[in-house]
Amino acid sequence: MSALSSTVTLIPLTDDVLELVKSIQETGPELVTAVHPDDEMYLFFITHPDHKDFPLRSYFLSGIGMLQEFQEILRKTGTSLENTKTFLEFACGYGRFTRHLVRCLDPGKITVSDVYKDAVDFQEQTFGVNGFYSDVNPEKVIIPGTYEIIFVASLFSHLPVKTWRPWLNKLYNSLTDNGILIFSTHGPSCMEDPGKMPGSGFLYRKMSESRSLSFENYGTTYVTNGFVLQAVKEETGQPVLLEVPKGLWNYQDVYVVRSPGSV
Ligand SMILES: C[S@@+](CC[C@H](N)C(=O)[O-])C[C@H]1O[C@@H](n2cnc3c(N)ncnc32)[C@H](O)[C@@H]1O
Repeated sequence: MSALSSTVTLIPLTDDVLELVKSIQETGPELVTAVHPDDEMYLFFITHPDHKDFPLRSYFLSGIGMLQEFQEILRKTGTSLENTKTFLEFACGYGRFTRHLVRCLDPGKITVSDVYKDAVDFQEQTFGVNGFYSDVNPEKVIIPGTYEIIFVASLFSHLPVKTWRPWLNKLYNSLTDNGILIFSTHGPSCMEDPGKMPGSGFLYRKMSESRSLSFENYGTTYVTNGFVLQAVKEETGQPVLLEVPKGLWNYQDVYVVRSPGSV
C-alpha cells in the first residue's frame, strides 16, 4: 500500500454538492466525500456534454443510483445485504459505488479489487475496506477467499473476447456455496448501429473512457442476451438466475448467477 491518499489533492466540493451530500446524509450514516483526482468515473462526467457543468453532483448521484438499483436486484433474488459476511466489489475503480455501499455494510466485510493499484490503495485508506490488486490477465490473479456476493459493474462491458469468459469463470469460482455473482453488460441497444452486431453476439470496439488501459485489454464491448446466456451456462454450469435489461443506469443490462448450495 502506498501513502498516496495523504499526498493527492482531492476534488473540492462545490455548494450544490454540499447540499446534495447533506440530503444523502439525512437518510443514514455519513457519506465519505473524498474524491480522487484520477477517478475515471468522475473524469468521465467532466467531459460528458450532459454532465460537464456539474460533474461532481452527477458522480455522487450515479453512485447512489447504482446502490438503489443494486438493492433492488438483491431484493428480487431474495438476498440480504445485512446478513452478508463477505462481499467482493470487482473492478471497483476509485469508489463511485463503494462510498455508498459502506453506509449499508460494514467495510470490514467488503473487499475491493481493480487493476489500478492507486484505486485499491485509495479505497483501503479512505473507506476502510480490504483490497487486492487485479491484472488484465485473469491467469495472473489469485483471488483471496470466497464471497457471498460478487458485484462487477461495468467491466464485462469493456473486456475483449480473450478475457471475457475467463473472468466470468474465475469470478464465478470465487463464490461461496449459494453465493451470487452480479455483473453488467452493454446490450445491442447501447449501440448506435445495432444492425452491426455480428452473428457471434459479441462486438468489441477500440474506444473507452480509460486514460491508461490499452485497447488490447480494455475497450467497449457489446453482447447479445443469447451470448451471455450461453457463456454463463458453459462457464458456470448454471442458468442465469435473473436478468434485468437496462438494470444499471437505465443503460447496461444486469445478469445474476447463483452458485449451488452445499445441501
Ligand atoms: C467503467 S469502470 C467501472 C468502475 C466501477 N465499477 C464503477 O462502476 O464506478 C471499469 C473499471 O474496471 C477496471 N478494470 C479493467 N480491467 C480490469 C481487470 N482485469 N480486473 C479488475 N479491474 C479491471 C478499470 O480499471 C476501471 O476501474
